[in-house]
Amino acid sequence: MTDAELLERADAIASRAYAPYSRFLVGCAVLTRDGTVFEGVNVENGAYPLGICAEKNGIGTAVTQGYGPGDFEALAVNASPCGGCRQWLHELGFDRVVFRKKGEIVTLTPGELLPESFEL
Ligand code: THU
Repeated sequence: MTDAELLERADAIASRAYAPYSRFLVGCAVLTRDGTVFEGVNVENGAYPLGICAEKNGIGTAVTQGYGPGDFEALAVNASPCGGCRQWLHELGFDRVVFRKKGEIVTLTPGELLPESFEL
């Protein structure tokens, strides 16, 4: 699975987002080290702050299936990850994050996306 293919998976799943308030459809695809791909979409709520980002949804789905820190290779998402999701990407130890920003494909490490991130 190439980064471009992973981003295509993110693009495709974005159509399943539930985003009636922002109308901003986000999809993500999570690649684990064993080659499994999990997908996630943003799910909004009428109580606006309760919505969940696509990345958290995809990572949460993988964690539910037994994956954890060190098991993740890459995450692709069709938008630049928000600050909170960058903290999640750091904690779960992804090698790289692939996203589209103003039409360009960007690949960065969690450390590049969020230097000096919070750690317990
Ligand atoms: N969103 C994501 O799903 N991921 C991000 O990293 C950025 C923002 C969603 C949240 C909200 O449903 C919509 O995009 C608009 O902010």
